[in-house]
Amino acid sequence: MTKSLTDQLNRPLHDLRISVTDRCNFRCGYCMPTEMFGHDHHFLGREELLNFEEIERLVRIFVEHGVKKIRLTGGEPLLRKELENLIRLLAAIPEIDVTLTTNGTFLDDQAKRLKEAGLKRITVSLDSLDEVTFAAMNDVKFPLQGVLDGIDAAEAAGLSSIKINMVVKRGINDTSILPMARYFREKGHTLRFIEFMDVGNTNGWGLEEVVPSSEILKTIHAELPLEPVEPGYRGEVAKRWRYKDGSGEIGLVSSVTQPFCGDCSRARLSADGILYTCLFTSAGYNLRGLLRGGSSDEEVSLILTSLWEARKDRYSEIRSSDTVNLPKVEMSYIGG
Ligand code: GTP
Ligand code: 5AD
Ligand code: SF4
Ligand code: SF4
Repeated sequence: MTKSLTDQLNRPLHDLRISVTDRCNFRCGYCMPTEMFGHDHHFLGREELLNFEEIERLVRIFVEHGVKKIRLTGGEPLLRKELENLIRLLAAIPEIDVTLTTNGTFLDDQAKRLKEAGLKRITVSLDSLDEVTFAAMNDVKFPLQGVLDGIDAAEAAGLSSIKINMVVKRGINDTSILPMARYFREKGHTLRFIEFMDVGNTNGWGLEEVVPSSEILKTIHAELPLEPVEPGYRGEVAKRWRYKDGSGEIGLVSSVTQPFCGDCSRARLSADGILYTCLFTSAGYNLRGLLRGGSSDEEVSLILTSLWEARKDRYSEIRSSDTVNLPKVEMSYIGG
């Protein structure tokens, strides 16, 4: 039987985002800037990662407490070996939506396998359609066409409702807003514009590099008129807008200019099994220790209940020049 949980601000637990690896083949400046990797940089070792059976066990416990949506993230989740085996385990759990966020570089090769394992939908991160700007955003030499082919392969494999996430940084990829909107409108995929956030401590965040969603909306609306769409459910991250001519929709994720903590129903599990109740915290709870220490499902449930019931996180609502420099976990570790 499902035991729904609510936190101190009366928010339910609805989503669980699971990072399956802290590694990535990109070095996006807003997430894993190259400078973050001194010689003593420590990536998690294989034995530190939750194995697929441990992840499945935790997901079943979370689902008993009301979780309806699982998002696999990273780093780059498709770098995790045999990820399709995890998807197969999770797809067998009734009544949950299992999805994945990827940079798309391995999709051309893996889309069919992921779909066959039971994945239904997917989100691809892509910040520009201009080769030079694309490379400036991810700081590696990977051909843009490879990601576009990956998106097409996902569609051909039958993954439905493909979404594209574009983080916008002023002066770097803001000129890509309209070309991206035109291209994905034609393709029939939902493009979501994400305000550059002060997550982690290494991305050199500054308010001057944030392009507010209101500005993005105005830019697109001037050429392709838009109207608002009702949210799909309480706590939906992106504000939805549709093209007035019926040719699809876009989303705006405005965590900096219009924080949405009031409805935040997301928990996050790092690849080594630490549970975080906010993207911007520095401390989490070691669930892997419980699993490997022989705790029963009931014991894990009790801990989860007490952690969620004590939760008061609302970082984006209290963000100020003082909070920006607080220690925070990196997004590549905790999951995008
Ligand atoms: P869908 O069900 O596919 O719409 O997923 P979603 O709305 O959860 O969107 P997605 O997981 O793609 O999130 C989009 C982006 O929003 C993430 O990559 C983050 O940049 C940002 N984001 C997601 N959740 C949070 C959150 O809890 N807090 C903040 N501040 N940002 C978030
Ligand atoms: N600001 C906004 N979004 C970010 N992501 C990672 N770092 C940031 C940041 N600083 C998100 C992007 C990307 C996903 C993997 O993580 O949405 O698509
Ligand atoms: Fe990798 Fe995604 Fe982070 Fe870019 S945003 S470095 S693709 S995990
Ligand atoms: Fe949720 Fe924390 Fe993001 Fe607010 S800042 S929406 S509490 S994850």
